[in-house]
Amino acid sequence: MSDIRLEGVSKRYGSVAAADNVDLTVAQGEFVTILGPSGSGKTTLLSLIAGLTAPTAGRIFIGGRDVTAAPAQQRNIGLVFQSYALFPHMSVLENVLFPLGVRKIGGAEARGRAIEALKQVRLDGLENRRPSQLSGGQQQRVALARAIVFKPDILLLDEPLGALDRKLREELQVELKQLQRTLGITTLLVTHDQEEALSLSDRIMVLNHGKTQQVAGPAEAYLKPANRFVAEFLGIANFVALPDGGQGLVRPERIRLSANGGGKPARIVEAIYLGQMVRYHLALTGALDGAPAMVAAAPFVGPAYSPGEQVSVSWESADVWPVT
Ligand SMILES: Nc1ncnc2c1ncn2[C@@H]1O[C@H](COP(=O)(O)OP(=O)(O)OP(=O)(O)O)[C@@H](O)[C@H]1O
Ligand SMILES: [Mg+2]
Repeated sequence: MSDIRLEGVSKRYGSVAAADNVDLTVAQGEFVTILGPSGSGKTTLLSLIAGLTAPTAGRIFIGGRDVTAAPAQQRNIGLVFQSYALFPHMSVLENVLFPLGVRKIGGAEARGRAIEALKQVRLDGLENRRPSQLSGGQQQRVALARAIVFKPDILLLDEPLGALDRKLREELQVELKQLQRTLGITTLLVTHDQEEALSLSDRIMVLNHGKTQQVAGPAEAYLKPANRFVAEFLGIANFVALPDGGQGLVRPERIRLSANGGGKPARIVEAIYLGQMVRYHLALTGALDGAPAMVAAAPFVGPAYSPGEQVSVSWESADVWPVT
């Protein structure tokens, strides 16, 4: 098990800075998620850590060792990608044995380890199947077993659940988190699903154009975003005018609606039922505060407001976070 440290890491492709002076420390056993829009440099960062590509500048340390110039096979890293990349002509067991063979581990020792890894991802009993005889979720579990079977120091996961449907994805999120905790393995997960990032990670790193926007715990990043980009990337933000002329944000769950006045007058434009929550799109009718439209979210417990209804809107000043 190891920690990861990036110091001023940059990767340029021509005029594109895919990674731009990135600093990051991931503690031993920590689960950090890299979150950002398409093209923001998420895969690039993982590739740099894995040694699949070399940085243009900066240094990379794994377990305190400078691996900037070390080839991938000297880094002892488990990798899982969105596309399962299993060997189609090999059985499940052979797929999981493969990285052990590369490391010259064979025989009963290898078999024992492979069976153990398959148990850890709850696939025991399916050793002799081919990948084509497995569901997408099972295939991704094989990929995970193959990534952990050689006891890597670090696990790098690039959108491993991206190809799965929502329900399966949520199940595997829980399993992944439990497995990571059981193994105590330092993990970097890439996703562009903000809910996945907020729910799985000890900390999240938000990237844009190869640059770090924020590295923080999920609640801190959500409620105290470092800038407007993070505020908008991590869910819905209501921007309101601050007394000093600046701008602040209020999250939808912190907006209070009342039928009895006492706040700013508003009209319900749309009420969207989301299961546990209802999301209201509001038009502020006395809009002198620079926020003509707002979004509120409330637990769905009984009758909801309907489009066209007049309500009043309020929020606590403690729930306003200044953004730049
Ligand atoms: N081999 C390459 N040659 C040239 N440009 C590249 C190369 N690999 C990545 N890039 C560029 O670097 C930037 C970051 O790419 P990267 O694949 O890291 O993004 P990403 O955040 O993983 O995106 P996605 O969510 O779509 O997977 C993009 O502008 C991309 O076009
Ligand atoms: Mg990518």
